[in-house]
Amino acid sequence: MKTQLFNNVADVQADLLAVFVPSEGDLPAATAQADEKVNGQIAALREQTVFKGSVAQTLLLPSTVAGQPALLLVGTGKDTLSDMNVKKVAAALGAQIKALPYANVAVAASGLSVKERDADNITTLLAQWLNEAFYEFLGFKQSDAEKVSKVETLQIEGTNEGALKVGVATAAGSAFTRQLGNLPGNVCTPAYLASKAQQLGEDYGIEVELLDETKMDELGMHCMLSVGRGSDQPSYLIVMHYRGGKEDEAPHVLLGKGITFDTGGISLKPGAKMDEMKYDMCGAASVFGTMKAICELKPALNFTAVIAAAENMPSGRATKPGDIVKTMSGKTVEVLNTDAEGRLVLCDALTYIERFKPQSVVDIATLTGACIVALGSVNSGMYANKQDVAEALKVASKDAADKLWQMPLDEEYQQQLDSNFADIGNIGGPEAGSVTAACFLSRFTESYPWAHLDIAGSAWTGGAAKGASGRPVGLLTQYLLSKAS
Ligand code: BES
Ligand code: MN
Ligand code: ZN
Repeated sequence: MKTQLFNNVADVQADLLAVFVPSEGDLPAATAQADEKVNGQIAALREQTVFKGSVAQTLLLPSTVAGQPALLLVGTGKDTLSDMNVKKVAAALGAQIKALPYANVAVAASGLSVKERDADNITTLLAQWLNEAFYEFLGFKQSDAEKVSKVETLQIEGTNEGALKVGVATAAGSAFTRQLGNLPGNVCTPAYLASKAQQLGEDYGIEVELLDETKMDELGMHCMLSVGRGSDQPSYLIVMHYRGGKEDEAPHVLLGKGITFDTGGISLKPGAKMDEMKYDMCGAASVFGTMKAICELKPALNFTAVIAAAENMPSGRATKPGDIVKTMSGKTVEVLNTDAEGRLVLCDALTYIERFKPQSVVDIATLTGACIVALGSVNSGMYANKQDVAEALKVASKDAADKLWQMPLDEEYQQQLDSNFADIGNIGGPEAGSVTAACFLSRFTESYPWAHLDIAGSAWTGGAAKGASGRPVGLLTQYLLSKAS
């Protein structure tokens, strides 16, 4: 599907025109224009409460005059839309466009007004969310062959090409992230993630380095290696370099937790919902998706993506509770619980990243169930050792309508990681579980500005609508774009 802009509803060529209808007050200009062509039907339908215009309500008016588009009415409620409601409106509209049999669809976007957002902002988010509505997980059901949408062109009313491009690229990144996340653990292994990096390298001409277990052993990444020890799947540290900035300019680094399946290891998880631990590589997936979006947009900055990929399994060779391992930094870790494995792969990757002398490092990880207890699925948890990074992420979060909430890193929490037998324990007691996980990581990030995003609650949805969300690709893409010169 191609996404492009158009200027005016009066002369747009389309088979289907979507117009926005508030539940009370004047119709927006673009909607009123369309209403004239159908002799006031839209106003009449609202008057008769056949179509009330409530948030995300839709109604199709098929075309009765040759050459005129069918109309899709989309309700926007009585108030200026919040981000939450405009997301609902876009999702409902996207689902309709995808299901209806029209090839050329136009959206009268000037009829949308959203709190604290200008027209260009709306162009980006609408392009992103409408495109995201087209994502489907295909390839594993016999019925997949029938699931082809008829849409060829999506036209959005607007004037800013750059804003449109950001939305389309973000959606492409988010679709990549969701696809990797939704893939089962028997397909999406650490080696599979490594192959996806190589493919990005070929597609976009970025440099890719793969560090295998032998190389990681030479570097002293024994903490990272302790996690994959029980698995038959080899671990990888994957590094990708996007170079759009000056040669001598320090990179911004994103690091993703890539546990392709987390059984808990010898500290085995209970069986219920364990299938969802295929999503324990969603941090890595979000870094892949962001790399794709950035490669599409080609901003002027240097960006390095690092993925710590391993599978956490129990076996006769697996790391056991109480085992002591040495990190690449030299600090020793007592592995009190083999299910707190994310921090064990991340800490060595964080030390490895020092060699890039980064301007900033953000790690993204489905790190703790405790973060879901604290914030649910609404906000990703954010921690930072430098408030500048935190503030830049907050701005990006607002721009992308991809929520996060800053959590504390007070030094008082650090003592919960004390161990009788090693420099650090890998768990900090049940209290403040998300905070102590972040404290663990903070021990390895002292030499650069760093933030940590705990996306355990935001990366996927469980239940009937089970699936990866694609978050926080929007936020990360905006963050990197804000760093471009
Ligand atoms: N990947 C999990 C965290 C997780 C659990 C994310 C459920 C999303 C849903 C992580 O590796 C883990 O198991 N963390 C433990 C840490 C504990 C042992 C200190 C947890 O949260 O229970
Ligand atoms: Mn775990
Ligand atoms: Zn995990």
